[in-house]
Amino acid sequence: MLHGNNLPEALEHRGVSRRDFMNFCSLMVATLALPPRYLAAVTEALQKTTRPVLVWLEFQDCAGNTESMLRSADPPVADLVLDLLSWEYHETIMAGAGKQAEAALQRVVEQDAGKYIAVVEGAIPTADDGVYCTIGGRTALDIVTEVCTHSAANIAVGACAWDGGLVRAHPNPTGAVGLQEAVPQAKVVNLGGCPHNVANTAAVLVHYLTFHEMPALDQYNRPLFAYGRLIHDQCERRAHYDAGQFVEEWGDEGSRKGWCLYKMGCKGPEATYNCPTVRWNSGTSWPVKAGHGCIACASYRFWDNMSPFYKPLPKVPGFGADVTAEEIGWGVIGTVAALTAAHAAVAGIRVKQAERAERASGDESGTTSSKS
Ligand code: SF4
Ligand code: F3S
Repeated sequence: MLHGNNLPEALEHRGVSRRDFMNFCSLMVATLALPPRYLAAVTEALQKTTRPVLVWLEFQDCAGNTESMLRSADPPVADLVLDLLSWEYHETIMAGAGKQAEAALQRVVEQDAGKYIAVVEGAIPTADDGVYCTIGGRTALDIVTEVCTHSAANIAVGACAWDGGLVRAHPNPTGAVGLQEAVPQAKVVNLGGCPHNVANTAAVLVHYLTFHEMPALDQYNRPLFAYGRLIHDQCERRAHYDAGQFVEEWGDEGSRKGWCLYKMGCKGPEATYNCPTVRWNSGTSWPVKAGHGCIACASYRFWDNMSPFYKPLPKVPGFGADVTAEEIGWGVIGTVAALTAAHAAVAGIRVKQAERAERASGDESGTTSSKS
């Protein structure tokens, strides 16, 4: 997978144009929420960087995070992420297999100790001495402990590597956990999501290569640039929530008009992520835009904590743009839920008053309202 030791050489080999490279740098600066003046610094740093070695480990997973990375398209983010680093080990995409592949991983751990970046995808089983996931005769727990304690940096991509994800959902027969719990002594940046958004992962790598440190993190060791804001506060359907206009059942008038999905179970008021702005499929859409409520796929242990996915949230610990991810805590839930309930009631009353006024004016003018 190696094509030269610096990025310009690797890009030339892959046929990535200068324009694509500049577009990529601009996208990274925007994703990192850096002021535009940082574009020159990022561009220069990436051009000069000697590509660090990366190893990508996969354990109990569906390979969705690898898929997400490889299927990124226009601009060719995936190509650039592949070229930013020297990928020495990735079971799904490497040509080598068996003993050769495992020898390549061992070589990196020994020869590049303290210099390589480890990316982990999938949960790590701990029950029964970790026998539920083994590679080359070694348990996932054994491999990840060795690899992630000899690396320069560790990145957990996707829900399973962060907190155990689906594999850890009740009743968790294999004792699955995320990377941080499996290897508490390792420093980990968590990129939750099911799957991760490759723009965020690329941005973390770019930040590391440019500034030689990881970006600012929240209480879960997730980058603040990606996980610092409530989805509810970035949502294009928010005006409908504020106006009390909700989808009541799939395919109804509100559904066709793009109204708020809160009553259909949307977890956006409790979830933080930058998917409304970074989006998916080359930045074209995201779940709520596509008409489905958010299931909080980037929230802590969302399979257990956020299901059933189609039931409305019992409480809404996030009211208005003034409540940030850091402020969400059990202490504010009661107050905020009460405020939200009051807000929704007032909004509902306003809508009913508007409907009554509309009907009255229709009666007076002898016409009928178009609203049912
Ligand atoms: Fe958007 Fe969901 Fe919030 Fe409605 S509840 S405004 S659909 S995030
Ligand atoms: Fe996930 Fe919700 Fe965004 S399901 S992709 S956090 S809209």
